[in-house]
Amino acid sequence: MRIAMIGTGYVGLVSGACFSEFGVTVTCVDKDESKIERLKRGEIPIYEPGLDKLVASNVAAGRLEFTTELAEAVTGADAVFIAVGTPSRRGDGHADLSYVYGAAEEIARAMDGYTVVVTKSTVPVGTGREVEKIIRATRPDADFDVVSNPEFLREGSAINDFMRPDRVVIGAETDRAREVMRGLYRVLYLIETPILFTNLETSEMIKYAANTFLAAKITFINEVADLCEKAGADVHDVAKGIGLDNRIGRKFLHPGPGYGGSCFPKDTLALVRTARDLGSPLRIIETVVDINAKRKKAMADRIIAAGGGDLSGKTVAVLGLAFKPNTDDMRDAPALDIVPALLEAGATVRAFDPESMDEAKKLLDGITYCDSAYDAMEGADLLAILTEWNEFRSLDLARVKDLMTEPVMVDLRNIYEPAMMAEAGFAYTSVGRPWPYGRKASGAVED
Ligand SMILES: NC(=O)c1ccc[n+]([C@@H]2O[C@H](COP(=O)([O-])OP(=O)(O)OC[C@H]3O[C@@H](n4cnc5c(N)ncnc54)[C@H](O)[C@@H]3O)[C@@H](O)[C@H]2O)c1
Repeated sequence: MRIAMIGTGYVGLVSGACFSEFGVTVTCVDKDESKIERLKRGEIPIYEPGLDKLVASNVAAGRLEFTTELAEAVTGADAVFIAVGTPSRRGDGHADLSYVYGAAEEIARAMDGYTVVVTKSTVPVGTGREVEKIIRATRPDADFDVVSNPEFLREGSAINDFMRPDRVVIGAETDRAREVMRGLYRVLYLIETPILFTNLETSEMIKYAANTFLAAKITFINEVADLCEKAGADVHDVAKGIGLDNRIGRKFLHPGPGYGGSCFPKDTLALVRTARDLGSPLRIIETVVDINAKRKKAMADRIIAAGGGDLSGKTVAVLGLAFKPNTDDMRDAPALDIVPALLEAGATVRAFDPESMDEAKKLLDGITYCDSAYDAMEGADLLAILTEWNEFRSLDLARVKDLMTEPVMVDLRNIYEPAMMAEAGFAYTSVGRPWPYGRKASGAVED
């Protein structure tokens, strides 16, 4: 089978490379010429563990190629995936569908023979029908079906998520389209992955319902963390205690500085908009959006408070800028709110992130980008951990103390134990854990 992947970003490149690994012949298309040039030279334009090897081996096997010429890739393809961005529309929170609709029109002009056009981008309910109309209007003679196949991969573990997903969701309404999709995902049938066939609207809704549910779960534990601080409870034990209930589950119950990234912020906003437009508001998600926005400011205030309330003349070492570890993605990262608030409070900021600093430099001015975590701490009065990269989990605390003027740490990811930090002589602040340092609210939980 042969497919075209329109949009070679975090989702398009991973999906394209994984389909080629499944044995499908894939052409990845992007209109960003520099991205395609780099890929043709064998460079990977994003940081995603394992992607370099996967791309290289499939290019070598002749199953994966890159182009800026959409028409060449689409003509004769069995399926064309739309994996372009759907960012928030400036100002109102609706998803900006101009890239999706633009791609649909270009695809329509180049289609040849029966083609399945698949929206892999996260798109609001009703978008698939609109794509159908655009293709029909552009090419009344076209023989095609539109399918929705939302992507659930997570940056940082994207390849495994694509190759061994919890489920695949396919909104397809004809036997022909379902047959093509079954063929593409044949390898996943062999490992008994649940594959849910449904209609276009349901498939589109599943993606938003999944993402907003997870955003709500994170927001819930963040609020519980704040309450734990007041009540003398330990949020990690609370998370375990509730998460061991199968109806709740352990995942996405880790408190922190608020959700960020390329999906949750824009998807929560977009679903809120869609729900209002359809006259069925999702008040729970509206509240989640509101709480999460305020949380980033509250976390900046927490760092400022740890520095004595005024950061003028003080240096803050910031470890981690990406919205989560194992990615260079800075979209809606909490650091984009927190770092400017620290600068506003008068701080000098020295930052380090293992992978995202090139991206961060485009978005965060007025800070010093450092060569390593320890370099960032040189002469710092305060250390703030914003992203839980593995390399920050086992810092040499004696060295940290030597480098800093004061041993003050604000750990917004709870990667250190309060008792251990107290023993090491740090003034340590984390999220949702009892005070004074390290008092266990109850007996240890056996894992
Ligand atoms: N990033 C994630 O973790 C993730 C996970 C699941 C779903 N999604 C969804 O997948 C979609 C893509 O997200 P992403 O993170 O890969 O975005 P991205 O910005 O990394 O990539 C999108 C790419 O599409 C290209 N593009 C836009 N219009 C084009 C056109 N007409 N022809 C060719 N190329 C075009 C852009 O140049 C860009 O390289 C979004 O809807 C997102 O919500 C993302």
